Amino acid sequence: MADVDGLKIAKDYKVDVPFANQGDFHVKGAGSLDWGMKKHLSNIFDPVSGNTVMFAFDHGYFMGSTAGLERLDVLLPQLIPYVDVLMGTRGAIRTCVPADCRKGIALRTTSGSSMLNDDLSHEVLAVDIEDVIRMNADCMAIQTFIGADGQLSSLDNLSKAVNAGMRYSVPVMGVVAVGKQMERTGRFFKLATRILAELGANIIKTYNCEDFEEVVAACPVPIVVAGGKKLPEKEALELAYEVISKGARGVDMGRNIFQSQNPAVMAQAVNMVVHKGATAEEAYEFFQDNK
Ligand code: R5P
Repeated sequence: MADVDGLKIAKDYKVDVPFANQGDFHVKGAGSLDWGMKKHLSNIFDPVSGNTVMFAFDHGYFMGSTAGLERLDVLLPQLIPYVDVLMGTRGAIRTCVPADCRKGIALRTTSGSSMLNDDLSHEVLAVDIEDVIRMNADCMAIQTFIGADGQLSSLDNLSKAVNAGMRYSVPVMGVVAVGKQMERTGRFFKLATRILAELGANIIKTYNCEDFEEVVAACPVPIVVAGGKKLPEKEALELAYEVISKGARGVDMGRNIFQSQNPAVMAQAVNMVVHKGATAEEAYEFFQDNK
């Protein structure tokens, strides 16, 4: 391991230079993967826009019943037409997602804490690869805690998922967690996203930050951005527009869709920004006209 004292500060991100090893496949960093991996990634990232709208409803894995997610069986059918990927736990997906749904599945495969814990950084790999395959999941979502108490075990979870995923051609989405004591700076997100990509994650879920273009440029796999806490709809659409303009390949939004005044219309507005090149203003106008 290199001595970290006296390290030069990384700064040459070449944000205007496209990824140089793209080949003819539309997902960044996936050109050398096999057919099965590419098929799953194509179920996530639209081959035309290259982007994805993930709907995150996995909050119950540590929060239990969450405002807006009380009745997944009622909510999900309203949103499925407007999103590309459903991100949830196996319990929620098996019970509340109709099996004839043809959207991508991002399966949360780590768990272990609840909102009653002060330190949420300790999780285990909770879903066997056999069950991931039985559910035909398109990726395994693994929570990681860089810089926190649970860093080592979370990177162990990630590495085990990557090893199993490579055996059976199932991609891994590394999720960068932020906590009360954790930074939300460009410096932190560059460190965390790059570590997860270097460990083999095929997709990284992270947050918007200053120098976000540099985070994207330094990460050799696609970045999707978490919505985070509920914002007014206009601000949430501005967030989506900003990160897509800066190179994110999608959003993985939860509360900003399911706690919206009209979740189905909000999902459509987000979809317009992510796939159709709409500005935040155009998408908000659509929301206002249809809410
Ligand atoms: C990820 O770590 C969480 O479980 C959620 O998937 C994530 O926070 C996205 O939901 P939200 O947009 O509500 O933050």
